[in-house]
Amino acid sequence: MSTPDLLIVGSGLFGLTIAERAVAEHGARVTLIDRRPHLGGNAYSEVDPVTGIEVHKYGAHLFHTSNPRVWEYVRGFTDFTGYQHKVYTTHQGVVYPLPINLGTINQFFQAAYSPAEARALITEQAGELAGTDPENLDEKGISLIGRPLYEAFIKNYTGKQWQTDPKDLPASIISRLPVRYTYDNRYFSDKYEGLPAQGYTAWLERMADHPNIEVQLETDYFDDSQPLNKEAVRGNIPVVYTGPIDRYFDYQQGELGWRTIDLETEHHEVGDFQGTSVMNYADVEVPYTRIIEPRHFHPERDYPTDRTVIQREYSRFAESGDEPYYPINSGSDRETLLAYRELSDAEPRTLFGGRLGTYQYLDMHMAIGSALSMADNKLPDLLRA
Ligand code: FAD
Ligand code: NA
Repeated sequence: MSTPDLLIVGSGLFGLTIAERAVAEHGARVTLIDRRPHLGGNAYSEVDPVTGIEVHKYGAHLFHTSNPRVWEYVRGFTDFTGYQHKVYTTHQGVVYPLPINLGTINQFFQAAYSPAEARALITEQAGELAGTDPENLDEKGISLIGRPLYEAFIKNYTGKQWQTDPKDLPASIISRLPVRYTYDNRYFSDKYEGLPAQGYTAWLERMADHPNIEVQLETDYFDDSQPLNKEAVRGNIPVVYTGPIDRYFDYQQGELGWRTIDLETEHHEVGDFQGTSVMNYADVEVPYTRIIEPRHFHPERDYPTDRTVIQREYSRFAESGDEPYYPINSGSDRETLLAYRELSDAEPRTLFGGRLGTYQYLDMHMAIGSALSMADNKLPDLLRA
């Protein structure tokens, strides 16, 4: 194997975008390594063998963006369906639409408020703690939308996401709780939205489908027994690294905090388990946060009518060995991150990118947008050095 012009660690959407740009704009020969047995990072999906239904292996992935450059870029690799995401929540045995909107409010208060009446009611209820500074998540939530709606729809769901009583969670976890005074319950308000028509994996594989891109799976950058390992490569070959930044530096400044999720997959002998793709569970008595039924992501497909697959989703703090998903971003995490940023700025011929490499929650369109910026601004110098 000859030495590549660029090594990319991690084949998620960040690494794939860098690989594709390095080839298209610089004619570079790229090797893309990933320690997992498949490419695509967390956006990867696979066909469930029992039902033939496409299942998002690492949790529900909905594509949406208002960035015209990203939208044009992704459509170079896949068509998108017209899917528009909607979420419902079950509270005390009743189903309500989310995000909290006029439909939720009128159903909850058994009323027929106009937009102005609902707004006046929520403003009054949110005034309960007026004049005080919220000291925890409970107080913050009440000050934003009032106690009744906060306690029904936000409090226990958020508590389950963090596995922590909301009175022990910092107020800073939420800065706003959107309430819509219309019946619009489209989840995303971005200009463009849809799901890859032939599935995520077809899209992701297409990005790497070029003779100049060599993909090596089950290959860990920190495994000295494979030739493209950190010790051998560092300073010799240009690298874009999209793995966890703390791992890169052997956790010398401490471990960054993450949340992770667990998914429990179940098959049912019915054509439709819950009538929608995502049902949240707002109450503390139900241990999971939500149920995903992937068939509803693709109503246009011919899926079997006598079988379905669901995923129950549980949320918790990540421990060593877990997949890191959502940065916790506590005050001490932010200090740790600054220390790692200094180290990474000094790291020879290595750029850090993506969700894990920058310790930032990035939606797919943000990961792609940020990789396109890196390709514009930093890749030419990296490849020239
Ligand atoms: P990743 O996809 O995490 O890819 C990083 C890759 O690096 C992984 O494949 C990993 O195996 C590899 N790697 C790490 N360390 C090493 C190593 N030492 N050696 C080799 N390889 C390594 N975005 C949306 O737009 N909509 C959604 O609905 C949505 N839902 C999400 C739900 C969940 C549960 C999660 C976790 C994310 C979700 N996202 C969603 C975000 C989306 O997955 C990210 O934008 C995208 O994954 C970011 O890509 P990335 O390349 O930065 O990271
Ligand atoms: Na660097």
